[in-house]
Amino acid sequence: MSTTSTNIAGIRLEKYALNASGPDCTTLEELEKIGNSDCAAIMMKSCTLEPREGNPEPRYQRLDFGAIQAMGLPNLGYKEYIKFVSELKKYNKPVIASLSGMCMADNLQMVKEFQDTDVDIIEVNFSCPNIIGKPQLGYDFEQTDTVLGKICEINDKVIGVKLPPYFDFSHFDSVAEIMLRHNVQFVSCINSLGNTMIIDPETESPIIKPKGGYGGLSGEYVKPVGLSNVRAFYERFEGKIQIFGVGGIVTGTDAFEYLLAGADAVQIATTFEKEGADCFTRIDNELKAIMGRKGYASIDEVKGKLKAL
Ligand SMILES: Cc1cc2nc3c(=O)[nH]c(=O)nc-3n(C[C@H](O)[C@H](O)[C@H](O)COP(=O)(O)O)c2cc1C
Repeated sequence: MSTTSTNIAGIRLEKYALNASGPDCTTLEELEKIGNSDCAAIMMKSCTLEPREGNPEPRYQRLDFGAIQAMGLPNLGYKEYIKFVSELKKYNKPVIASLSGMCMADNLQMVKEFQDTDVDIIEVNFSCPNIIGKPQLGYDFEQTDTVLGKICEINDKVIGVKLPPYFDFSHFDSVAEIMLRHNVQFVSCINSLGNTMIIDPETESPIIKPKGGYGGLSGEYVKPVGLSNVRAFYERFEGKIQIFGVGGIVTGTDAFEYLLAGADAVQIATTFEKEGADCFTRIDNELKAIMGRKGYASIDEVKGKLKAL
């Protein structure tokens, strides 16, 4: 029987797949449902210093092959998520905080305050595409470098960065160099493909309201971008930084593809939103089945072993 247990920077995950920050992980009730499921960890919604309502509705629309959204980080404010950590530890799986400060000072304050909690992992979101008037930090390499330098100075927890998708080898090189220089322990790639647009020809308008219809694309549409980003960073990190693969995972086969590309674990947002927490049981069973059929007993036997054509 194959096992899908894995680890991120020494933190053990019983299974390979967990929820990605975003859908249905904002309130304690939602997080407890994740705790009670086969999800490998409990990832909390990206938080900001102050609570946020987010952008006007409609701001999320399901699509046949994914979803488009411009949520605008609706969340309860970081103080609530600090309180949730102790409640969530009873599920005996890692609890992950996702921080998405509006500026460097916000991120520093939140990283500092999560140090005194039992949170297992901190993921800093450098890639939210949906805040009106705020560029994605991960596309500004100088700022990424500066902010990471400051964050890593004050942090003792396992810490990593949620990255936007990149499309150019020079960008993979630059970002990998910055991550390696700051000894980041993991990256999560990718966030949604920012500022895409779906137009309804009947109504002659975009299908979401915020930002004139621009929104982040996720789900099946983005899997090839997620796979290439995981592979590109896997090749550059040489085992020094671990990787969460994110983007378009619907089946155990999708998870297996991310494993071949080099992901240490995977995160799932759109499929979780559409199917609920049972998706983690289904995907784990499917992944075990494909590993078993191919004769692989463990995640390590497959990780990164993409074959050349
Ligand atoms: C409704 C929704 C809300 C999201 N909110 C966040 C967020 O708060 N923080 C974050 O890092 N990513 C957020 N994301 C991006 C997801 O974590 C993920 O990176 C992206 O959707 C690709 O994965 P998927 O194809 O499994 O959805 C959100 C995605 C969706 C669909």
